[in-house]
Amino acid sequence: MSIQLKDTGLYRTDAYINGQWVSGDEGEVFAVSNPATGEIIAQVASVSAEQTSEAIAAAELAMQSWRALPAKARCDLLERWHQLILDNKEDLAQLMTMEQGKPLHEARGEVLYGASFLKWFAEEGKRVYGDVLPATPDRRSIVIKQPIGVVAAITPWNFPNAMITRKVAPALAVGCAIVLKPAAETPLSALALAELAERAGLPAGLFSVLPTSDVVAVGGEMTSNPTVKKLTFTGSTAVGKLLMRQCADTVKRTSMELGGNAPVIIFDDADLEKAVAGTLVSKYRNSGQTCICANRIMVQEGIYDAFVKKFSQAVKGFCIGDGLDEKTTHGPVITEKAAQEIHSKVESAVAAGAKVITGGKISDKGTHFYEPTVLTDVNDQMRLFKEEIFGPVAPIFKFSTEAEAIAMANDTEFGLAAYIYTNDMGCIWRVSEGIEYGMVGVNETAISSEIIPFGGVKESGQGREGSKYGLDDYLETKYICIGGI
Ligand code: SIN
Repeated sequence: MSIQLKDTGLYRTDAYINGQWVSGDEGEVFAVSNPATGEIIAQVASVSAEQTSEAIAAAELAMQSWRALPAKARCDLLERWHQLILDNKEDLAQLMTMEQGKPLHEARGEVLYGASFLKWFAEEGKRVYGDVLPATPDRRSIVIKQPIGVVAAITPWNFPNAMITRKVAPALAVGCAIVLKPAAETPLSALALAELAERAGLPAGLFSVLPTSDVVAVGGEMTSNPTVKKLTFTGSTAVGKLLMRQCADTVKRTSMELGGNAPVIIFDDADLEKAVAGTLVSKYRNSGQTCICANRIMVQEGIYDAFVKKFSQAVKGFCIGDGLDEKTTHGPVITEKAAQEIHSKVESAVAAGAKVITGGKISDKGTHFYEPTVLTDVNDQMRLFKEEIFGPVAPIFKFSTEAEAIAMANDTEFGLAAYIYTNDMGCIWRVSEGIEYGMVGVNETAISSEIIPFGGVKESGQGREGSKYGLDDYLETKYICIGGI
């Protein structure tokens, strides 16, 4: 194992349940590998359904005294955890790059992004207000907000740190306890976060981390256990639908941050430099493995050729490789299977007439690397138009009119993020309002942060994460009527 950390205590391979570091039942483990090299970097404890149930029971108990604390006490603790994450930024980034593959500069950015949710909710958690409603003279009608209860979270491998803190911070801030199943590909970042939470003084049971290779058993326990009052999930739409069905029997609240199929709509009057730069970032961030990545790049016919030329020139300059190498601009995709799946979408587009401007194949750097790709002559019948690509492939579609662009953008079951490039204020308003998406970036694709409500519509999910709205997902609204006044 070649992980070199300044603080070796952050390399944890046991599960963290009720404040204890424990092995999987019967010593079960699963291997975690570095997607850039294939090297096995850890054997991690694989927890069972029984251990999940123990973590949930511990969470329920721990929550009783946690929710009774003044909000300030809970939030002070989140502040300490935030600071420890900042202090250990470099180690957390190294761990992330080794298990996930993203280049170090992106991993460092994600650690800061992840930490920002702790800071934000440490502040926002002090502002859980209720209401006094106008009522008749002999009664008072009051609304209070209370923590929803034990939360279960299932998080993805593409953002092994920030997707955790985006859920855990609001849950803890309002007085809930949370049990987390991190992705099997990237449990080390989650376990390092638990180590830092413990160092910050988080009481046992409030945050358990349950790595597992038996997702069906652990997910089944999380969704069926009646003590869990809410499930929060980031991942694919197919799995999200399954989890929602499983949660129906105990009527759990769910938050779902699911797949996307983001259009970037570039109008003739757009600033070409800005449109190219923004689309490059959006498309190729994390090698295209981001739910809000540009999936369908739609360019108006008057600017189409100039855009394709400038965009593909920039893509040809990318340097793919091991994310630990500071020269690397783009890392591997998560698995060999993922690279093959990306390639099958490209192949089917090419068979239907798409033209490869650059890339178009698995790289000779290794089976996990897909060449940054640009395709033209693409159309709305292709899989690349209908499905989330989740890889470094940019299909560039052509459109003529604003109405056509809106129709194309909406021609999908997804509705997470969309982007528009134009300087026409009327067009900005018409298109922003006309497209069915939870988030719209106008002349900007770097739209994520802790202060915004992240989330989608249609089959991209429900609920919002981050921002003042992100607290609501962890709160119940209670109405109290005081009569006889
Ligand atoms: C995601 O891919 O779901 C997260 C992206 C982000 O937070 O910017």
